[in-house]
Amino acid sequence: FPIRVDVCNIISSTNDYIKNKINSCKKGMTCLAEAQTAGRGRQGKKWESPFGASIYLSMYWHFEAGYQSVNGLSLVVGIAVNNVLRELGINTSQLKWPNDIYANDKKLAGVLIELEGQIGAGCDAVIGIGLNVQLGAAVVDITQPWTDLSQQLRQTPDRNLIAAKIINELYSLLSIFETKGFPAFEHLWQRYDWLMEKEINLSIGESVETGIGRGVDSQGALLVECDGKIKRFYGGDVSVRAS
Ligand code: BTN
Repeated sequence: FPIRVDVCNIISSTNDYIKNKINSCKKGMTCLAEAQTAGRGRQGKKWESPFGASIYLSMYWHFEAGYQSVNGLSLVVGIAVNNVLRELGINTSQLKWPNDIYANDKKLAGVLIELEGQIGAGCDAVIGIGLNVQLGAAVVDITQPWTDLSQQLRQTPDRNLIAAKIINELYSLLSIFETKGFPAFEHLWQRYDWLMEKEINLSIGESVETGIGRGVDSQGALLVECDGKIKRFYGGDVSVRAS
């Protein structure tokens, strides 16, 4: 399966690059950049994107008309990245619902998915991944605990090699996901779930729910035990409570 990969130098955002040519993209079409001038994270946050310090990658995918749900898509992307990290020897990497990858309790990578079109009527997905490789001193602005591959491994691995592994893994997991959906991945998530059995706060808009992480369901919703009852959450911002 030949996948087209456009390698750019400095651009605004790899997600924008794919969006701008979305009508001519085939499934798996990928953009990589050395730096982004307007890299973005979830919830309108800025994503620090210094030159050559990380992997900035976006892949295009199309979900056919009649396809009912992209529920769990961001979790599957996290699983793909986690599989590659484990293969590289990072055995502390874990998944933080809904789309962060952690190592040693610090953020190592993030996923930003942007959807266009109506689910069920044919829908385009731009799947963005930012993976910290060697951030160095350039990033004083990151507000949450972070880590990078150079801290997690004795030798900083080759970015091209890692990017190639991620592209291949993502392509193959998305091919499974588009026919089988999230149920095919549920068991994998539970194995690497960073929130499992932890006391967490989940903010949804103004309200905050508190409980214990109990994994995810077959649609990728977060399960939280609140006062002895299991509740399901489809969105929100999770933090682990200080013990
Ligand atoms: C997050 O954790 O908030 C998601 C971060 C996603 C960052 C990547 S870098 C490549 C792609 N292009 C962007 O502008 N954002 C994503």
